[in-house]
Amino acid sequence: MLTCYQPAAIAGKWLPLEKDGLHDTSNPGLKLLQSPAEALANLPPDNAGNQVNWHKAMEQGLINPRSSLSGAKEPEILDLDILMEDTRGALMVLFPHKVHTQWLDCENCHEKLFKYETGATPISMGDILNGESCGVCHGAVAFPLTECNRCHKIPREQ
Ligand code: HEC
Ligand code: HEC
Ligand code: HEC
Repeated sequence: MLTCYQPAAIAGKWLPLEKDGLHDTSNPGLKLLQSPAEALANLPPDNAGNQVNWHKAMEQGLINPRSSLSGAKEPEILDLDILMEDTRGALMVLFPHKVHTQWLDCENCHEKLFKYETGATPISMGDILNGESCGVCHGAVAFPLTECNRCHKIPREQ
């Protein structure tokens, strides 16, 4: 049988924690946890991943993630888009620093994943699908890789 990733939600319906296959149902503490349906239903919906558009949720001020564990450090937000053109037949990729630096410190990506220089780090779809490069987060904690057009969105000039 093929084992595959079981989505935590199907079409806006979140599985209760007892049924998600991840939580220990024999643990009495389980009842103390807020259910996903209760926690997530009021956030802007999405039709991929865990059914929440987290970027919109932040823009609308519905969530306010800490920028560091202690919360003491102010986030450094960088508004710099990077166009990635090496996509063969697919639309080109636009990497937005702003959306990322609203959540993530520079060190999450520089320079372990990417050099501080556009084009200096080879990036391929194969690596991403293998959980490297952008795939360290996308498909894991950020929107899934099936959403091609959220990354590939810039047409080439004819
Ligand atoms: C998280 C962002 C992201 C998602 C989602 C994504 N890609 Fe990519 N893709 C990239 C990046 C970044 C590159 C490398 C671009 C570069 O180096 O200029 C790339 C490269 C490619 C390439 C060029 C050939 C190669 O192997 O590198 C193809 C074709 C491609 N992607 C197709 C797809 C398809 C089809 C999907 C959806 C099933 C998809 N991508 C989803 C970011 C993404
Ligand atoms: C989510 C990952 C991520 C985060 C977080 C991030 N970057 Fe980047 N950064 C990238 C990627 C991807 C590139 C392009 C790499 C490439 O093309 O090889 C890049 C490129 C750059 C470049 C090169 C720009 C150019 O014109 O050549 C600079 C400078 C940079 N980042 C600064 C920062 C700073 C400062 C921060 C924190 C405020 C930051 N980045 C946070 C992923 C990130
Ligand atoms: C360190 C983790 C991390 C890495 C690495 C990373 N991302 Fe992201 N990305 C996120 C998070 C978190 C968000 C915001 C939440 C979400 O949209 O799921 C995000 C959002 C985005 C968005 C915005 C989507 C929107 O709704 O506007 C795009 C586009 C994107 N990422 C592309 C990329 C590309 C392309 C790469 C690789 C060059 C990359 N990301 C690498 C974590 C990461």
